[in-house]
Amino acid sequence: MITTCIFDAYGTLFDVASAARAVGDQRADFAPHWVRVATTWRLKQLQYTWLRRITNQHKDFWTVTQDGLDFALEESGLDDTELRDVLLALYWKLAAYNEVPSMLGALKSAGYNTGILSNGSPDMLDGAVKSADLGGVLDAVISVEDIKVYKPDMAVYQLVLDRFNCDAEQVLFVSSNGWDVAGSSAFGFNTLWVNRAGDPMDRLDNKPRWVADDLTGIPALLEGLK
Ligand code: LAC
Repeated sequence: MITTCIFDAYGTLFDVASAARAVGDQRADFAPHWVRVATTWRLKQLQYTWLRRITNQHKDFWTVTQDGLDFALEESGLDDTELRDVLLALYWKLAAYNEVPSMLGALKSAGYNTGILSNGSPDMLDGAVKSADLGGVLDAVISVEDIKVYKPDMAVYQLVLDRFNCDAEQVLFVSSNGWDVAGSSAFGFNTLWVNRAGDPMDRLDNKPRWVADDLTGIPALLEGLK
């Protein structure tokens, strides 16, 4: 029986493109660039986590996030310290997707444990959770900084079992990242892949148990399993 619902943070609960999109809306000179910057920023941020894990050269997610942005700005020919500062500041108050507060509230009302499991550093996650006002509907915010290795290392998913004193089959893990879904499925979690963009499924060994367009249906999905 599933007792515990755990969510990836960036891209799953929080819209990682919202920072670059907001600045693109405000600054005409950035409007033609924001999509490419947002895409490369995210890709490099993730690549650096995987490479740092594999090479045992951990640096926290805030450092990796800045490094990814610096690559993305240079790629687009944007040498602009003020722009860099504005984009980074917005990363601390990313918008949550619209359905997130009510979905988490419904899970709490139904008696599930709820939490975040993220590469984010504790202070970044604290900022995002406070800014989206989600503190009251989350039982735990678990950061990889506790062990200083990044997803999809299996040691990261183990943090959930340690925190909630449960078994992997009691956990629903939700992520928008296909590679995170594959890793957490391999660990033994029940997984749901949030595929907002209609992307193809990653060609990896472990597939999600469920796929959804957004997070809205999760409370009903779990009710249906009872
Ligand atoms: C996280 C990244 C992977 O929040 O989105 O862990």
